[in-house]
Amino acid sequence: MEKSTMSVIVLVLHLFVLHLQYSEVHSLSNNHPHDFSYLKFVYNASDPQLEGTYDYIVVGGGTSGCSLAATLSEKYSVLVLERGTLPTAYPNLLTTDGFVYNLQQEDNGQTPVQRFVSEDGIDNVRGRVLGGTSMINAGVYARANISFYNQSGIEWDMDLVNKTYKWIEDTIVVRPNWQQWQALAGDGLFEAGVSPRNGFSLDHEPGIRLTGSTFDNNGTRHAADELLNNGDANNLRVGVHATVEKIIFSNRNQLGKPAAVGVQYSDANLQSHQAFIHSKGEVILSAGTIGTPQLLLLSGVGPESYLSSLKIKVYHDNPYVGQYVYDNPRNFVNILPPKPLKPSYVTKLGITDDFYQCSISMSNYSTPPFSLFPSPSYPLPPSSFAHIVNKISGPLSYGYVTLRSSIDVRVAPNVKFNYFSNPIDLSHCVSGMKNIGDFLRTDSLKPYRANPDLPGIDGFNFLGIPLPKNQSDDASFKTFCQDAVASYWHYHGGCLVEKVVDDGLRVMGIDALRVVDATTFPSMPASHPQGFYMMLGRYMGIKIMQDR
Ligand SMILES: Cc1cc2nc3c(=O)[nH]c(=O)nc-3n(C[C@H](O)[C@H](O)[C@H](O)COP(=O)(O)OP(=O)(O)OC[C@H]3O[C@@H](n4cnc5c(N)ncnc54)[C@H](O)[C@@H]3O)c2cc1C
Ligand SMILES: *[C@@H]1O[C@H](CO)[C@@H](O)[C@H](O)[C@H]1NC(C)=O
Ligand SMILES: *[C@@H]1O[C@H](CO)[C@@H](O)[C@H](O)[C@H]1NC(C)=O
Ligand SMILES: *[C@@H]1O[C@H](CO)[C@@H](O)[C@H](O)[C@H]1NC(C)=O
Ligand SMILES: *[C@@H]1O[C@H](CO)[C@@H](O)[C@H](O)[C@H]1NC(C)=O
Ligand SMILES: *[C@@H]1O[C@H](CO)[C@@H](O)[C@H](O)[C@H]1NC(C)=O
Ligand SMILES: *[C@@H]1O[C@H](CO)[C@@H](O)[C@H](O)[C@H]1NC(C)=O
Ligand SMILES: *[C@@H]1O[C@H](CO)[C@@H](O)[C@H](O)[C@H]1NC(C)=O
Repeated sequence: MEKSTMSVIVLVLHLFVLHLQYSEVHSLSNNHPHDFSYLKFVYNASDPQLEGTYDYIVVGGGTSGCSLAATLSEKYSVLVLERGTLPTAYPNLLTTDGFVYNLQQEDNGQTPVQRFVSEDGIDNVRGRVLGGTSMINAGVYARANISFYNQSGIEWDMDLVNKTYKWIEDTIVVRPNWQQWQALAGDGLFEAGVSPRNGFSLDHEPGIRLTGSTFDNNGTRHAADELLNNGDANNLRVGVHATVEKIIFSNRNQLGKPAAVGVQYSDANLQSHQAFIHSKGEVILSAGTIGTPQLLLLSGVGPESYLSSLKIKVYHDNPYVGQYVYDNPRNFVNILPPKPLKPSYVTKLGITDDFYQCSISMSNYSTPPFSLFPSPSYPLPPSSFAHIVNKISGPLSYGYVTLRSSIDVRVAPNVKFNYFSNPIDLSHCVSGMKNIGDFLRTDSLKPYRANPDLPGIDGFNFLGIPLPKNQSDDASFKTFCQDAVASYWHYHGGCLVEKVVDDGLRVMGIDALRVVDATTFPSMPASHPQGFYMMLGRYMGIKIMQDR
């Protein structure tokens, strides 16, 4: 009796210890070269081998698309069509320095950073390369706010969600090393009242933390493309330079519903090709917030009168396609310190319920990175500077994606975000920027004042619009928020759940067509969304296989 109780206790203890060790070291990756094993199943779009019939066609080899395709290939044949090139063509993508470098390159229609200016007049960018925007982003990795799931309109299996995060984190997420400016930013945020200090964590919770990064500590970028390596090479084909122009629909089935049967895509020489799906297969759009609504509209899924006015044949009338498109405003200050700052990438975050703060330090400029500042007229930094940013939750303000060409998918659509059209967003910005005011006034930041003897924030040398000095002057903060707004690059929406897609992310009114990317949710899963979007890809892949 006594003995068996003992052994139970020992067993429990043993499991407990194992569990602790597992959760500490669990699923993070280490430094390693970017893994291009998947090259063996990548084809040029002009290659006739790509044409054919598959179980699934994934449009867009981006943040969600890669994990989705890799997962489906475990059981089914999958074709991924990505309009961009391979990251091997731009080796700079694969380094921390490349983040800024690639934002500085001119857009020649092929380069991995596609530039656009929204109708708000604010510079912005999107990814155009295998790996999608995860290949050009700032590498910050987080899991979603645990309260996000229940508000998303989808019923989640949380156990599967967590397993899926681990699958991603094992492959491409690291715990970042200490960086001087980041450590200091953490101290300043704490002194400014953001608490508690959560140490290293991937979870989106109030407080200050060191979060994960897809940049490893050897300075190598990891990204969604490497998740393709986890797929079954025998079942997976990836086409690059493959621009999907249109979804091909069958005639209406017995239920009166049109069904997706394939896609039409073109290669770099503008030659047209087609690929099809088997019955029970699906076309899945993972072309991102701008690409996915654009393709639906071009294919005849959207507001009937609008599409008819453009002479696009309407397959399904839905007024919400391309509507409810959101972008979190990025409000910021730049400080020029008296001594050069070591460059750092974002790893320390300050999170409260309404706003999230982080900062990056940069140096050695020739041209300013496109869309880091709202417009090209922003002053050029002389040497090194710290860029301290605020992100508001939500936002509540939204705009749209509409077509600029009704026939050519290569013509980028119109995008408008209507920053701060909802006054609640503006008041969140005001609180967030005041918090940055508190941050700048801390002792931690003293050494970064050009003149440490001046009171308040007078001692800082600001680049661009300075923060208002009077912390109770809301009117000045409101003006500041509206004048210094840039894009946080976390635009989302355009195909919302319950408006365009159902709770399984199936496009309503059409058979065999789904959307899996940043377009389906109206609010932000976390301060930084890429972890959630990669999780979403695999999670939906597993659900699709389970349902079939
Ligand atoms: C500069 C920048 C910095 C960022 N920093 C961070 C960060 O640090 N942390 C974070 O979590 N998030 C960050 N983000 C946001 C995050 O990267 C995006 O929200 C996310 O990658 C979007 O994923 P997605 O799958 O919806 O789209 P994408 O990853 O953009 O994938 C869409 C893919 O579809 C392809 N495509 C589009 N149209 C077609 C077509 N017609 N035919 C074929 N292919 C097509 C595109 O080329 C692209 O590869 C950043 C974004 C930017 C721009
Ligand atoms: C570290 O980075 C260098 C330069 O990018 C690369 O050649 C090397 O393979 C990397 N080492 C590891 C272990 O990732
Ligand atoms: C979501 O809601 C369900 C039921 O309402 C509850 O059981 C579950 O714990 C909630 N999950 C989270 C993550 O809050
Ligand atoms: C999932 O992981 C989060 C931490 O990221 C944890 O808080 C939560 O309890 C986990 N849920 C389940 C069902 O394992
Ligand atoms: C892919 O094909 C295009 C022509 O369609 C050609 O211009 C390009 O060089 C090819 N790229 C590669 C990597 O083979
Ligand atoms: C800036 O570039 C110069 C010359 O390339 C180099 O010596 C210096 O260390 C760089 N400064 C920083 C902060 O990286
Ligand atoms: C998490 O989401 C809930 C529900 O939307 C929200 O109330 C809360 O403020 C969020 N927490 C953080 C830290 O963003
Ligand atoms: C700061 O702004 C408040 C609110 O507008 C105003 O009442 C106060 O006089 C201002 N203080 C200074 C020093 O200007």
